[in-house]
Amino acid sequence: MNKGIFITIEGLDGAGKSLQANLLAKKLLEIGFPVTLTREPGGTQVAEKIREVILNQRISSKVEALLFLAARISHLEEVIKPAFEKRRIVISSRYIDSSIAYQGFGLGLGGEEILSLNERYTSAFWPQLTLYIKIGLEVSMKRRGKDRIERRPDSYYTRVEEGYNWLIRKFPERIKVIDGERPIEEVHLSIFRVALDYINRMI
Ligand code: TYD
Repeated sequence: MNKGIFITIEGLDGAGKSLQANLLAKKLLEIGFPVTLTREPGGTQVAEKIREVILNQRISSKVEALLFLAARISHLEEVIKPAFEKRRIVISSRYIDSSIAYQGFGLGLGGEEILSLNERYTSAFWPQLTLYIKIGLEVSMKRRGKDRIERRPDSYYTRVEEGYNWLIRKFPERIKVIDGERPIEEVHLSIFRVALDYINRMI
């Protein structure tokens, strides 16, 4: 393996991404793989500050999309790429797909537009594997918190879900759908199997 493996975990708020990313990282570490676990929006000092602004200030849709992108570039340059170059398995909770679903579809900025903007500024650095933890809108509603994004109306989340469905159709090779409405351990096992299978094919 020349370079690392970049895996992302995606899903609606309340899908259990952070928990599942943690469990996956722990399991892969246990069996001896070098793993870097990270998340968006965040992962660097600058990105954490941008996250605070995005989640707490009143900003326009365009500013929101560009701040997520700025945080992503900082994260990519400082965390993801260095670990990838060191042949590590990088697991990120959220990445470009979140921007396409939340800003492209949710805020109506356009899926293709947000996709090409992100491709341009990340030099098309896509994950090789994305695990989409699928939960229904009702489950998401029950589980989500109350920050500026999570307070948006159900119609917003309906569009976000449409965005993810669009992505699943567009990138069937990369995005694997995991049923997230099962017990935590079962979801974990499905994720682990898909990830391990992919890693074994790559090394
Ligand atoms: P997340 O880390 O999943 O939330 P939490 O840590 O509170 O569980 O992400 C925070 C919010 O940011 C979430 O509502 C999704 C949103 N988001 C976007 O709208 N666009 C993006 O590009 C990213 C990365 C996140």
